[in-house]
Amino acid sequence: MIVTFEKAGERFAEELPAKTNLVVRAGIRKFPWPHLRYGCGMGKCGKCACRVLAGAETLPAPNWQEERVLVGRLDEGLRLACQLWPEQNLTLTQDDVQVAPPRP
Ligand code: FES
Repeated sequence: MIVTFEKAGERFAEELPAKTNLVVRAGIRKFPWPHLRYGCGMGKCGKCACRVLAGAETLPAPNWQEERVLVGRLDEGLRLACQLWPEQNLTLTQDDVQVAPPRP
């Protein structure tokens, strides 16, 4: 699958194995590092929130962490990269995406 990350008018793309978690990869300094913003890796902080520009229909429904962190934002096409193990081509951006972590 090809993952494309758009940032400030630039496009970065790489072919990755299916079911690759992008935050795990960024954590070991592989694409989409250094472009992807992320934090906890556990669906809590919201820093990895991305807008899915293409391929959203190939993703499973949001899990409970995404529903909690992205409350009211799922309709904008936002997903938490740390909670995704995509299997097909995906295009993402974090431009203009800011998500505050939920209150404990
Ligand atoms: S990295 Fe914290 S919610 Fe995804």
